[in-house]
Amino acid sequence: IKKIAVLTSGGDSPGMNAAIRSVVRTCAYHQIECVGIYRGYQGMIEGDFIPMGPRTVHNIINKGGTILKSARSKEFMTSEGRKKAYDQLQKAGVEGFVVIGGDGSFTGAEIFNKEFQFPVMGIPGTIDNDIFGTSHTLGYDTALNTVIDCIDKIRDTASSHNRLFFVEVMGRDAGHIALNAGIGGGAEEILIPEEELGLERLLESLKKSKASGKSSSIVVIAEGDKIGKNVFELKDYVEANLPEYEIRVSVLGHMQRGGAPSCYDRVLASRLGVKAVECLLEGKSNFMVGMLNDKVTITPLLQAIKGESEIDRELLRVAEIMSV
Ligand code: F6P
Repeated sequence: IKKIAVLTSGGDSPGMNAAIRSVVRTCAYHQIECVGIYRGYQGMIEGDFIPMGPRTVHNIINKGGTILKSARSKEFMTSEGRKKAYDQLQKAGVEGFVVIGGDGSFTGAEIFNKEFQFPVMGIPGTIDNDIFGTSHTLGYDTALNTVIDCIDKIRDTASSHNRLFFVEVMGRDAGHIALNAGIGGGAEEILIPEEELGLERLLESLKKSKASGKSSSIVVIAEGDKIGKNVFELKDYVEANLPEYEIRVSVLGHMQRGGAPSCYDRVLASRLGVKAVECLLEGKSNFMVGMLNDKVTITPLLQAIKGESEIDRELLRVAEIMSV
């Protein structure tokens, strides 16, 4: 392999820039060419490429977002779109690519690999941490720290006013952020998509906490929780049933996807980028690089896509004990 491309795809996450930097510099280290692809697979289809070298990625290790931009390409889901992308890669002399993204991006890479026998590698990048084959995805640690910082601030005002706060965090299908930031932020209750808590149990728990002398409380709710009400409907429901509570809602939203990556995410990105490029150079393809027990590992892309990144049930018990 003489030329590798790198792209970021799907929802962005802090640490993507550090991973781009790592891919580019590993290519330079091994004296092969590297090109960046703008706007994910859409840019691949349109041939929106830029040559990259070690100096084009300076001063980005500390930056959130992605300098290559990201997109969710509908066209790449069609075989015509993928053929256009393949032709663009051929034209540019690209012989393999590294895609930084989540399972949607990996699905695209997997299909592309099968269709054209094109060498591909994936680096998991999403704040949701919902990818099988790695304990951490890029951006997850940073997002947790952002959420904790917000919960700490909310705690100050919650306690001054003796209020109950419902804090909604990201996680359409996964409760990793909610569960860990909930424990780290000292939440009373944590609602996640993987676990049906039930409205009755929530009311019971809040009643109990009031009776035990707590004057303010924080409930952390993943946006995809199973309770079947959005966070504002939940507020109305709880207020109607427990009038002793004054409730405020705080939806943290996309601020969780931004900001300077944590040290953990920067090191993770650097390690995964090196591995992804070196796998391609060794003739390996169609794998995701990940981190398990602090060791860099590779998992077949298909397994990474199909496998479940389960929450640690022990954490649910810890959360329950901590809220006594
Ligand atoms: O990156 C995944 C995620 O953070 C989900 O938790 C959330 O539902 C989604 O992104 C929102 O992304 P967008 O606004 O880009 O559609």
